[in-house]
Formats: sequence, C-alpha cells, structure tokens
Amino acid sequence: MQTFDTVIRNARVVTAADIFTSDIGIRDGRIVALGLDLEAGAREIDAAGRHVTPGGVDSHVHFDQPTGDGSIMADDFLSGTTSAACGGTTTVIPFACQQKGHTLREAIDDYHRRADRKPVIDYAFHLIVTDPTPEILRDELPALIAEGYTSFKIYMTYDALKLSDREMLDTLSVARSEGAMVMIHAENADCIAWLTERLLAAGHTAPRYHATSRPMLVEREATHRAIAFAELVDVPILIVHVSGREAVEQIRWAQSHGLKVYGETCPQYLFLTADSLGCDDSFEGAKCICSPPPRDKANQQVIWDGLENGAFEVFSSDHAPFRYDGPDGKKAHGEAVSFDQIANGIPGVETRMALLWSEGVRTGRITPQSFVALTATNAAKLYGLYPRKGSIAIGADADLVIWDESRTFHLENAKLHHNVDYTPYEGMHLSAWPALTMSRGDVVWDGEKPCGDAGRGEFLPCARPDPAKPRRRKTELPL
Ligand code: URP
Ligand code: ZN
Ligand code: ZN
Repeated sequence: MQTFDTVIRNARVVTAADIFTSDIGIRDGRIVALGLDLEAGAREIDAAGRHVTPGGVDSHVHFDQPTGDGSIMADDFLSGTTSAACGGTTTVIPFACQQKGHTLREAIDDYHRRADRKPVIDYAFHLIVTDPTPEILRDELPALIAEGYTSFKIYMTYDALKLSDREMLDTLSVARSEGAMVMIHAENADCIAWLTERLLAAGHTAPRYHATSRPMLVEREATHRAIAFAELVDVPILIVHVSGREAVEQIRWAQSHGLKVYGETCPQYLFLTADSLGCDDSFEGAKCICSPPPRDKANQQVIWDGLENGAFEVFSSDHAPFRYDGPDGKKAHGEAVSFDQIANGIPGVETRMALLWSEGVRTGRITPQSFVALTATNAAKLYGLYPRKGSIAIGADADLVIWDESRTFHLENAKLHHNVDYTPYEGMHLSAWPALTMSRGDVVWDGEKPCGDAGRGEFLPCARPDPAKPRRRKTELPL
C-alpha cells in the first residue's frame, strides 16, 4: 500500500511560528507526515526552494448576498470560491444576512441553498444579525451557535442593517453567554447621515464625496462606543475593516487595558487612498467606494505598522463584488446618482494573499510567519476552525499554497477569475503569486488555471472559538 497520496518535497514550510525545510506527506486530504526523505507518494510535487504556507482563510467575504438596493453581487459561491482558490485561499467565511422582519434560520437556509453544489473550496458562514427580537435572542441565536454558526456581524451603520445601542448590548450579551465571536462594523450612522445631507445640499454628489461623508472620526467614535459596550458586557469583539489611525488608537487603547478587542484590516487600506475615489467628479471613482473609505498615505503606514506590531489579528479581503459596467453593480441607478446611492464594496478575494506576500513579506515589512498568522492561522482560531484549518501540522487539512517568487506578476483584471469587471489594483507589479493551491489534497489552482470541481467544497460547522471567551473579571454588574 502506498503510504502517501501526495508528497510535497523539500518545501520551505511556513507556519505562524516557524520556518523549516520539510517534505509534506498527504493522505486522504490530510497532512499525515512532516519530515525529511519521506517515502515516495503516488504523486510527487517538487517544492525545492519554495515557500509553502497554509491555504488562506478569508474570514470576510460577501458572495451572492442580497443587497436590497437594486444592485446584485457579481460573484456567487462558484465564481467567488474559484477566484479565492486561484489567489491561494482555501477557506472562506461569507455572511448569511438576516433580513429585518425575518429569522436568522431563514437566512441560513437561504445561504445553504445559494451555496448548494457550487463551492470549490471549504466554507463556513457568519451570521449578520439585523433584527434581534427577544425570541431570536432567546431561542434562535443560541440554537444556531450550538449548530456551528459561532460568529456574527453587527452593524452600527446602514439603515437596513444597523442596531441601536440597546440592541447591541442585548446581542453582545448573547454572544457572551453562548461563546460566539462578534464582528462589528463601526461607523456612526447619524454622523454619516448628517454629513451626507449637507454634502448633497451643497451639490457635492460625486463618488469622491463618499469619503468626505465618512471621515475617520465617525469610525473612531463608533469603535470607541463598541469597545465600551464590549467592556460593559465583558465580551470579546473584533472590529472589522479598520481603515486608519483613529480606529487603531481605540483598539490599542482597549488592548492596553486588557480588553479582548481584536482588529481586522484589508488590502484597500494599504493600497488605496481617498484619491482612488477620484480627484474630479467623474463616476470612475465608484469602483473604490467601500466603507469605511480608504484614507491617505500616512494612514496606509499606520495600517502597515498595525500589521507589524500586532494591533491586527486578521487581514481579510472584505470582497464585496459589484461590476462597474452593466445594470446590476455600481451603475445600478445610472451614473447621474449621488454617492450615497452607489453600492458599497470592492473585490479582492483573489488578490489578498499575493498583495500581502509581495508588498509585506518580500519587502521585509512583515515576517513570513506574521503573514501566515494574519492570512490564515488567526482567522481559523478566531472563528473556531483551528487546528483543522490555518496551519501546516499533522492532522490538519492539506490546504496549502506553494509560492512562485521567481518572476514579476503584472496584475490585470483579465487574469483574475472573479466575475467583476475591474480590480482596484490594476497595473500593480507583484513579486509573488501562488504557483499551486491545494485544498484537502486536491489541486484547485495549478498556476495557470483553476482546477477545482464545483461543489467539492465542504461546509464547515465552527466550534465555539477560544478567543471569544469572556475575561470573567470579578464584577458587581449583573452579567
Ligand atoms: O463597503 C463595504 N465594506 N462593503 C461590504 C459590506 C461591509 O460592510 O463589509
Ligand atoms: Zn462592514
Ligand atoms: Zn464586508
């Protein structure tokens, strides 16, 4: 009997802790041996001189999510996961979004239908809680957490999604008692509405005013409030898509006071600025409308610093795919619309890993180990998928990326596999790209073409994450 289905030879294996040269023995989709001179496998892959990292865990993506504003997401679970695989990601966690007036269970059932027979890589779901009625908080949310939906996002902005302060407290309290991880979109809705009204009244309607309507202080205030609520309830939280200095300072403050506050950032805050939304009134800037908006060069540096110094746990894509041309995406209401009518979000599931390896690791800004922590290991831990996902270890799924760092990769949308008609990173020259992506032992990207079959991806119920455990300090408060 052949011991290994596949042996990857002489890899420079990178984990969140170590780098070492090893063969990787794979059987039945799992890593079963690490060592030198492993016996021959049925298939042999030479990785001499190449870094091999865990497949990425992209814990913030939106696929086929109904928007309710006339726009339609361009990527479903097939194109979205194919694009992810081609960029070195082997696990995605999209959002099952509750519609107000409906149950969370309906959202989960709907998302399982949307994912049916489509994903080429493994996937879990976060919930988005938009309507936390007493019944939902008492019965449904705890039941879903017990079934493996152990994380949820709450919004402090967007009329269709946002919770009041009181609703946030009630929802955080359930996360505490049931052991779920809470992701928070922190922007102050009333400040944004107030600024938007004044900008529109002054005739400032172009896409670039999206950034003016959401200055850093609205993110800072909401981040501060979310942290205060989490402290009051004594529950860990994760602030998603952090854009710059002011929110980072709030997170750092919380961490320095011993609070379990985690931070996530995304490529758009390293590589785009508010100028990407246009320096004139042309519609083209709509391509880079996302919330919070990208800031400026100085804030890009703050985000790099945060990746380097541990302020951030995760580097996700926040892939929110809307086409630029056509009737469904950024132009769903035409080009003569004000910035507040344009779908929010940019694509990035395929480019996330290579951008950070090329511009983070190859430039010496972060270590290969930090790259692995930020793109895979920490997300797997934060969302209850570790150690099956996010590491190269005996017993872990054989989700792996072999990196090609031997040439320059010219980033062009035409080479990507999402269903979006642009990339915000068009024209960048990267010094790395996955030469091969493997998901549970199957090659799903061979360096030239996607090769994962639709529907091979498995749904992953998530465990209650350790990082979601409350601090349980002595308190007089009735928690
Ligand atoms: O603009 C963004 N980030 N769109 C995606 C939805 C969200 O809030 O993450
Ligand atoms: Zn968000
Ligand atoms: Zn998002």
